[in-house]
Amino acid sequence: MRLWTKTASVFAALLMIGCGESKFDEVIPVLPPVVEEEEQDKPSVGSYDEKYRPQIHFTPAKNWMNDPNGMVYVDGVYHLFYQYNPRGNDWGNMSWGHAESTDLIHWTEKPVALTEDRLGAIFSGSAVVDAGNTAGFGKDAVIALYTSAGASQQQSIAYSLDKAQTFKTFEGNPVIPNTSKPDFRDPKVFWHEESQSWIMSLALGWEYGVELLSSKNLKNWTSLSIFTNDDPACRKGQWECPDLLRFEVDGQEKWVMIVSVNPGGPVSGSGTMYFVGSFDGQKFVADDLDYPLWLDYGTDNYAGVTWSNVPDRTIYIGWMNNWLYAGIVPVSPWRSAMTLPRELELVKADGKYVLASKVVREIENIASDWAPLGEGSFGKIDACQVRLSVDMTKENTWRLSNGHDEYLEFYVNPSSRKIIARRNGSTGDSSFSASFSLPALRMPVTGDADEIELDIYVDRSSVEFITADGTSAMTMLVFPQEIYDRIECTTGTLEGDFRSLSRIWK
Ligand code: FRU
Repeated sequence: MRLWTKTASVFAALLMIGCGESKFDEVIPVLPPVVEEEEQDKPSVGSYDEKYRPQIHFTPAKNWMNDPNGMVYVDGVYHLFYQYNPRGNDWGNMSWGHAESTDLIHWTEKPVALTEDRLGAIFSGSAVVDAGNTAGFGKDAVIALYTSAGASQQQSIAYSLDKAQTFKTFEGNPVIPNTSKPDFRDPKVFWHEESQSWIMSLALGWEYGVELLSSKNLKNWTSLSIFTNDDPACRKGQWECPDLLRFEVDGQEKWVMIVSVNPGGPVSGSGTMYFVGSFDGQKFVADDLDYPLWLDYGTDNYAGVTWSNVPDRTIYIGWMNNWLYAGIVPVSPWRSAMTLPRELELVKADGKYVLASKVVREIENIASDWAPLGEGSFGKIDACQVRLSVDMTKENTWRLSNGHDEYLEFYVNPSSRKIIARRNGSTGDSSFSASFSLPALRMPVTGDADEIELDIYVDRSSVEFITADGTSAMTMLVFPQEIYDRIECTTGTLEGDFRSLSRIWK
């Protein structure tokens, strides 16, 4: 109970900044509340055309969503589970919502997969395909590993024998009991061939660490080591949602540990750091670099992790929001979207390893042909991608805008080699939270080329900037009355191309 209160008050404080008093303690369940069956079983299908409704990003038809969970690829289908409140538009009744897609772009919402049980709410976690039947539930069973958030945070499993359509919770839960650690959550698991074992990363919250554990059968777990970093800049907030990833760079094996941190992100509130290093089956050791490194320099890419069981690439998706104001963004009847899915690669830039992200190639499925930007008007669009030529030697300024005199301004600072965006009252509605307006979101640009190409993905309530080489990203929410449908260079000539992206909802 005491632990709940602590967690609850932390969430409450972070969620409610700027919106007065908190009712958060009341909504955190300790005993399972009754969830009416038809409510959780039937995903509602809306028009997906409400004000601010993203047209090319996943959102649930209705209700609250936060972290992506349990992403797993099974027989040609990408499953996306997520923190979900089946009963309302605020954080609470944490369950795993479910959607699936064959191209990572068009999503179909499915019945809620996991709801609160005797051990508590269902917090974040991952899913794997048990090809070797190590757990004994059956060959190729899909096993979900999640945090049971009740009187304390413990790890539990559930299994699916119908390709991730339905799950049964394991009677032996919790598989990792815990009564002593206040923060112990978000299990992310992968199969480690060399040691023939499953490796789990678990976040230690305000202890600023990630515990690594191993198991032969997904049921009995042994602690291996704890990864931490002493730099105060990495310890401004609690560590959540870790993911340990393996990459090949120039024929060399490198490992990356992704850790979400809240608050203490690159701008304010939530953010996603990463560490580059090595993993020997027991311990992750970070290379001596200047941490934190950021996976995204914007305000709104949090709690992201990668799909498991994808044979040929590393695909990431993040929650496109920030705990500073997530509870009060002015959208309804849903709340929150995911980022566009991105393929991650570890590359060398400026002599260092950089985690690069590029929107998955399946974006082509909704893209029209490229056209020159010309005067900068996109015409009538659901969403669009701009590929802007940016002269890094000139202090140019651009505006993405609409016919309502709302605009998002960004400019180049040649001396710091950064692209800087201002998110303020001019961008649209910002009145819901004092923390939403920010004078400068800064995106560093790698390399020394005078001219670079910058991809800008514009949807109704978000803008994602990603350099064409993927080495820098900056994701932000904006709430203009209508989508930005033009771009101008207020200080020079506009150069680049654009293409419209068509809406993903039928
Ligand atoms: C991250 C997080 C996780 C937790 C979940 C609860 O946003 O705080 O650590 O499992 O959200 O909804």
